[in-house]
This record gives sequence, structure tokens and C-alpha cells, in this order.
Amino acid sequence: MPGIQIHDKFFVPFINADTINKRVRALAGKINSEYAGKNPLLIGILNGSFIFAADLFRELMIEAEISFIKLVSYKGTSTTGHVISAIGLEENLHGRHIIIVEDIIDTGKTLSTFLPEIYLRNPASVKIATFLSKPAALQFDVKADFNAFEIEDKFVVGYGLDYDGLGRNLPDLYILES
Ligand code: IMP
Ligand code: MG
Repeated sequence: MPGIQIHDKFFVPFINADTINKRVRALAGKINSEYAGKNPLLIGILNGSFIFAADLFRELMIEAEISFIKLVSYKGTSTTGHVISAIGLEENLHGRHIIIVEDIIDTGKTLSTFLPEIYLRNPASVKIATFLSKPAALQFDVKADFNAFEIEDKFVVGYGLDYDGLGRNLPDLYILES
């Protein structure tokens, strides 16, 4: 696999599609055994998670549902500060087993701000499945329950992740050339 250019930056091959697919299948296997008979509701966070969510969901052999939301952040009042709200969350979460599906946990800010909104709806349980996490970049108290890869604190594209809109359709994961 050669390197690629997206906008002004150069990226080199990092994790190939085959390796990705094997890890996603392994995560699905864990979910299959942990959630059998529980009809979990996966909630994918758009846009980045759509490919990971689709691949993960197709590997589930148990009864399961999926829905997608988009998070929009805006400035609240001076007391509430930064607010993140979910668009498209229409399901009744009460008593449901929720699996949040993310592309990447970077600082953890997005999920730590958004998770309280999920808990307010009284789900039976909440776990987090993320394709990637960058432990060295973590600044908020968020931990993935299912994590395909922990990576170094560098920018990556592919498999749903973008650099300024581009690169989401790459089947392999690429990392910023250093
Ligand atoms: P957090 O709130 O800092 O955890 O940021 C998470 C979001 O930042 C992800 O959902 C991505 O949209 C974006 N992001 C963080 N790191 C990367 C990266 O390396 N490539 C592409 N997007 C990233
Ligand atoms: Mg995202």
C-alpha cells in the first residue's frame, strides 16, 4: 500500500483492512456472548462510526437493534458551558441495554459530555464500543468496554474517519506521516 495525500497532508498505511476486519469480528464475538437474549440497542455516532457500526452489526448473530445519532455542540449559558446534544435519538431507552458505537475516543470530551444524556433516559445498562482510542490523548473520564485498537496520539484517516471531510471511504487505516 502506497502513502496517500489528502488536502495538504501525507498519510502512510497503518492498519490494513484484513487486520481491521478480524478485530471487528472478535469484538462482535464478545458482544454476541455478553448480550445474547438482551436485544441490545447499538447507537452509532455519526458521521465517523458508520462503517465500523455497519461491520460490527453485520457480525452480530443475536437479536439486536441499531440507530444512529448526530451530536451537535454549541455554547450554552456561562453556567452550563459547552453543551452537546443529540439529534435523532427517538428510541425509548428505558430498560434497554445500550451500546454506544464511536469511531474514536481521542480526548474523551465528546462522550463524557454526551453520556449523561443517555443515563437520564434510564437504560438498563450502557457500554461503549469504539473502533479506536488514543490513551495518551485522554483528558476526560471515559473508558471503552469494547475497543478494536489502541493507537498512539497521531491523526488517522480511513474506515470512516476523515481529515476535513475526505478519507472516510478508505478500507485501510492511514496515519499522518511524521
Ligand atoms: P474527543 O471528543 O476528543 O474524544 O474526539 C472525538 C472525535 O474527534 C472523534 O469522534 C472524531 O470525529 C475526531 N477525531 C479525533 N481524533 C481523530 C483522528 O485521528 N482522525 C479523525 N478524526 C479524529
Ligand atoms: Mg466522531
